[in-house]
Amino acid sequence: MTVHFIGAGPGAADLITLRGRDLIAACPVCLYAGSLVPEALLAHCPEGADIINTASMSLDDIIARIKAADDAGQDVARLHSGDLSVWSAMGEQLRRLRALNISYDITPGVPAFAASAAALGAELTLPGVAQSLVLTRTSGRASAMPADETLENFAATGATLAIHLSVHVVEDVVHRLTPFYGADCPVAIVWRASWPDERIVRATLGTVIEATEGERGRTALVLVGRALAAEGFDESSLYAADYDRRFRPVGTTPRFPEGSA
Ligand SMILES: C[S@@+](CC[C@H](N)C(=O)[O-])C[C@H]1O[C@@H](n2cnc3c(N)ncnc32)[C@H](O)[C@@H]1O
Repeated sequence: MTVHFIGAGPGAADLITLRGRDLIAACPVCLYAGSLVPEALLAHCPEGADIINTASMSLDDIIARIKAADDAGQDVARLHSGDLSVWSAMGEQLRRLRALNISYDITPGVPAFAASAAALGAELTLPGVAQSLVLTRTSGRASAMPADETLENFAATGATLAIHLSVHVVEDVVHRLTPFYGADCPVAIVWRASWPDERIVRATLGTVIEATEGERGRTALVLVGRALAAEGFDESSLYAADYDRRFRPVGTTPRFPEGSA
């Protein structure tokens, strides 16, 4: 018996890996994490599967249901939105399963930041503008932030920020980031990227509060950084005609002559 943790993607039912889909289809028990997992994915469950929304369950309840499946020799598909490596509460489930000696594996999914960047038609790391992306959040009721993981500390690097779970505190985000990025720094808010009701607002730190007044909603990503609207960035050397590299040797004395290992 195995618990298959599966990244269910950001919302669109076809943004799941083939492996994830096939595992759902093979498991007689499916636990899915509430409203952020698209119900359409549950159509992949086999007929007669026990399909349980864990939104109202405690960790103890969830582990008890998994233990019951283990006792019955039934594999479990465990779905969480986006990818499982960030804000999925998978870590605490894995720890319990290790203690119970229940085996598990993990299938990654498309995270919200990637779906949001796709919706924006943007690369978040542009040469000479930003080469780092910080996935972060602000403090919430369920999780306080570690002392040094402040927006100010991340902002000091000038990296592109993908700020999760924070659209309801946009005023605070703007207030804290403006001294670092400037009021003209581009901001994009993407609500429910890849869902049918996806919505995008593009603004700047100086205009985003007014641009989103009265419609903060819940599931949205706040992206901040110069890469969001840069046009005058450098081209990467990788595809430059005179860049000598292993797969395209250039010049009379290439670093990697053809046929070299
Ligand atoms: C609990 S976290 C889950 C993150 C998820 N594990 C991932 O890989 O993206 C939920 C937050 O992720 C962001 N989020 C999740 N799905 C989203 C989507 N489709 N569009 C925009 N933001 C989304 C929002 O900031 C939301 O508050």
